[in-house]
Amino acid sequence: MQFSKIFKCFGKRPEKSSTASECVKEAPASAESSNANVASGASGNVGALSQDAVGFKDIFEKCEKYVMADQVKAKGLYPYFHTLNSRQSARVMMEGKPRIMLGSNNYLGLTDNIDVIQAGKDAIDKYGTGCSGSRYLNGNLDIHVELERKIAEFLGRDDAIIFSTGYGSNLSVLSCIGGRDDYYVIDRESHASIYDGCRLSFAKMLRYKHSDMDDLERILKSLPANSGKIIVTDGLFSMGGDYANLPDIVCLAKKYGARTLVDDAHAFGVAGDGGKGTAWHFGLEKEIDIITATFSKSLASLGGFAVANSKVIDYIRHNSKPFIFTASPTPSATFAAMTALEHIKAHPELPERLNKLGLYFRNKLVSLGLNPKSGSSPIVPLPSKDTETTLMVSKMLYDEGVYVNCVFPPAVAENDCLIRTSVTAKHDESILDEAAEIIARVFKKLGLDKI
Ligand SMILES: Cc1ncc(COP(=O)(O)O)c(C=O)c1O
Repeated sequence: MQFSKIFKCFGKRPEKSSTASECVKEAPASAESSNANVASGASGNVGALSQDAVGFKDIFEKCEKYVMADQVKAKGLYPYFHTLNSRQSARVMMEGKPRIMLGSNNYLGLTDNIDVIQAGKDAIDKYGTGCSGSRYLNGNLDIHVELERKIAEFLGRDDAIIFSTGYGSNLSVLSCIGGRDDYYVIDRESHASIYDGCRLSFAKMLRYKHSDMDDLERILKSLPANSGKIIVTDGLFSMGGDYANLPDIVCLAKKYGARTLVDDAHAFGVAGDGGKGTAWHFGLEKEIDIITATFSKSLASLGGFAVANSKVIDYIRHNSKPFIFTASPTPSATFAAMTALEHIKAHPELPERLNKLGLYFRNKLVSLGLNPKSGSSPIVPLPSKDTETTLMVSKMLYDEGVYVNCVFPPAVAENDCLIRTSVTAKHDESILDEAAEIIARVFKKLGLDKI
């Protein structure tokens, strides 16, 4: 209410040249503030509202009240923003100390591949550091177009489109595909970029319980036949390390006239024939309508892509605001991703090695008495009970030289937190043994081997 009032005042400027402070004074006397002290400047590191703004709610109030990160830091358990002083690899320098990296998405280990690095340098030499604009206008390089062609060819699709981030891939596709009368039916554990892409569109978003095909069917059944529908899911779930049930999803999509979109951020380079992704893992490569993925994981760069039928890609190219109104991927990111893609094509044994190492690590943890979540991917999560215990585990592991990720609610239920480890092709058996032994020691110390 208050905001629309202020907004209206600014909107009226041509008729009456009211200043911002005049606008504020027009506010109703009933606008009693719950944070008069903030407005009057009595407290708050975020600074106070204007002296004239007594009685108004400060939009920064929530920031002032946000203390959770500070509380965790005060306990010495804060698990985020550790600084790296080296390249991403199996062993890294983090905050000045060597640590085994078990918390990255550098699945094929190509971030320190000599050809990929050289490609990044060569592209800067040839094209400079940035594109200064959108693909649509001045920022469309020949290497962008070439990379799209190569991705489409690798995945056997009509066409591909690349974006400046993986997050942007889902935003770009989903924001423009779903119209007012359409439905997105998404797995509840979908990545944040899927949620945000759906929200940016005019379509309605409905969520089914994680990998629950009965729930998916219940929702599909309830939708009007004359509405457009698309089922959206991660291919390989990044936190649980489990694959989406694509065989059943494809069957249900056919039965209820829905399209399918799979976000293969974590499966591209990892799963299926030569690392092509989840659809190939299940032998369903012809059945998925749109596949999105990122350059920031197996492709060792920054950016993302979507592949689909050429009419769909053409529609996205000319209708997607997050694609049109943003600068194109940098030359160096683009050429590095293209070189990583060439490397993947030339080395189909790399995803195979990765999956073998994932299995090796999983078995090693089991042999040491731990209980990783079942699965077959190189993402190996270990149950770690509640938030506090999980923070403690991650801190103890960090101090012993192993970096892992914590998974907290709402990504998981209250007492089902996880320590997420991810194996890369850069690891080898001896590093994984070393890490597994440290993990087992810490888990046993905290009684987590029993769960
Ligand atoms: C499933 C999934 N989709 C999309 C993204 C976004 O990719 P990027 O970080 O490259 O923007 C991520 C990244 O974590 C992801 O896990």
